[in-house]
Amino acid sequence: MKKIGVLISGSGSNLQALIDAVDKGRIPAEISLVISDRPNAYGIERAKNKGIPACTILRKKFDDYNAFNLAVLEKLMAHKVEYIVLAGYLSILSSELVRAYPNKIINVHPSLIPAFCGMGYYGKRVHQAVLDYGVKVTGATVHLVDEGADTGPIILQKAVDVLPDDTVESLAERVLKVEHELLPKATALLVQDKLKVLGRKVIIMD
Ligand code: GRF
Repeated sequence: MKKIGVLISGSGSNLQALIDAVDKGRIPAEISLVISDRPNAYGIERAKNKGIPACTILRKKFDDYNAFNLAVLEKLMAHKVEYIVLAGYLSILSSELVRAYPNKIINVHPSLIPAFCGMGYYGKRVHQAVLDYGVKVTGATVHLVDEGADTGPIILQKAVDVLPDDTVESLAERVLKVEHELLPKATALLVQDKLKVLGRKVIIMD
């Protein structure tokens, strides 16, 4: 059975969507490890409730970023993880880690990349920027992870209308639902090797 590692930083609602999709047979793989880079991430509880090995690896315990990422990489390899899913993960991966999993790491971002993404654009900040700019459409994106921040080739996107009375909270809630739809779909394609990458383009061989 293909093995997936999921990296989280927070509540893990995207992780839960993956767990549910695996349970329903929509992802032909197993989640064999969950790692959080933040203490007390509720996603760790979600993993433990399902008997999935889970641990927290904190950046501040290491001398530098590369040492922290190496610890994450070693844990993933110790669990024979073949594919990595970033599900609300806030740390930037080191080049070494990305290169260890070429075109086998995906990330979900709560906007239509290349809008409102990159350094500093995460969580509610994304939706605040969307409202401040006054765009009429936002959405969610799942993309392959390369060595940049939110710059890898795009796998799936889906639009979400911005409503006149939207708040950060109301918009975040609607976008999160789309994330929960797209991430399991993209993960299923990834583990079945149905993603062919041609430069910036991802061809889905479904
Ligand atoms: C959310 O802001 C989501 O948009 C982004 O990560 C954050 C936490 O998601 N992808 P989760 O509930 O921890 O999966």
